[in-house]
Amino acid sequence: MEPLLSAEHITICYNGIPAVQDVSFQVEPGEILGIVGESGSGKSTLIRGVMGLLGEGGMITGGDIWYKGENLKDMPEKKFRKYQGPEIGMVFQDCKAAFCPVRTVGAQIYEALSAHEKITKKEAESRAREIMEKIGLTDYKRVLRSYPFELSGGMNQRAGICAAMILKPALLLADEPTSALDVTVQKQVAEELLLMRREYHTAMILVTHNMGLVKKTADKILVLKDGRVREYGKTADVLENPRDLYTKKLMDSVLSLKRIRSN
Ligand SMILES: Nc1ncnc2c1ncn2[C@@H]1O[C@H](COP(=O)(O)OP(=O)(O)O)[C@@H](O)[C@H]1O
Ligand SMILES: [Mg+2]
Repeated sequence: MEPLLSAEHITICYNGIPAVQDVSFQVEPGEILGIVGESGSGKSTLIRGVMGLLGEGGMITGGDIWYKGENLKDMPEKKFRKYQGPEIGMVFQDCKAAFCPVRTVGAQIYEALSAHEKITKKEAESRAREIMEKIGLTDYKRVLRSYPFELSGGMNQRAGICAAMILKPALLLADEPTSALDVTVQKQVAEELLLMRREYHTAMILVTHNMGLVKKTADKILVLKDGRVREYGKTADVLENPRDLYTKKLMDSVLSLKRIRSN
């Protein structure tokens, strides 16, 4: 089977200075890859590179990113933009900030959909309803009518998941999608992402510093430090048998947090 996404020896620089170096990984259809590493290790840069959203000064300077057999690196911008959403979706760390503050969630979800397909508002609402009800937004009408500031953090994250999932992307990139939430809501949102994978067979790259979340959700794990790969493999193998002291320390920090909480 051909992988859905194959990153080969990726190097990404900001203004000539490398932030990610020689990173390779693969994501199979329906698979979840967890990317972990301390702050500044290059996690966001890596997935923004895949999404084509590096911004000013950021550039992929080496390697290739194959998606369904096509090299995203060489893809003309116009074609790449058509992929952003229906092929590769993104859930941000802070979805409230990613939404436009002066338009309702419903208007923005409709806009995202109608940019890629011909659809009426009514059809869009029923598609949003289907997903929102699955992820615990039972009062979907209120959510669609609301402005982002009128919703809680957890509801904004769910609305962000809905906005990404409504296009049924084959690959969902999620950059610390739960880290701005409190612990119980974190758990729920993580469960909901897993549910989306079960329902739609969506592959995901999940960036997080939460080892507990990775353990629970990821099939494979990639550990980054200073922009380089420290470990890469099946989650159980990496967590049970870390080759690297850095991974052990990352894991210990999670375990000791748990111990403090349960005491
Ligand atoms: N827009 C940017 N311009 C210049 N340097 C950046 C930019 N974004 C990130 N960096 C640098 O790239 C490195 C990796 O950052 P980042 O990908 O945000 O790490 P992480 O998401 O793991 O915290 C850091 O050294 C950071 O300072
Ligand atoms: Mg980051």
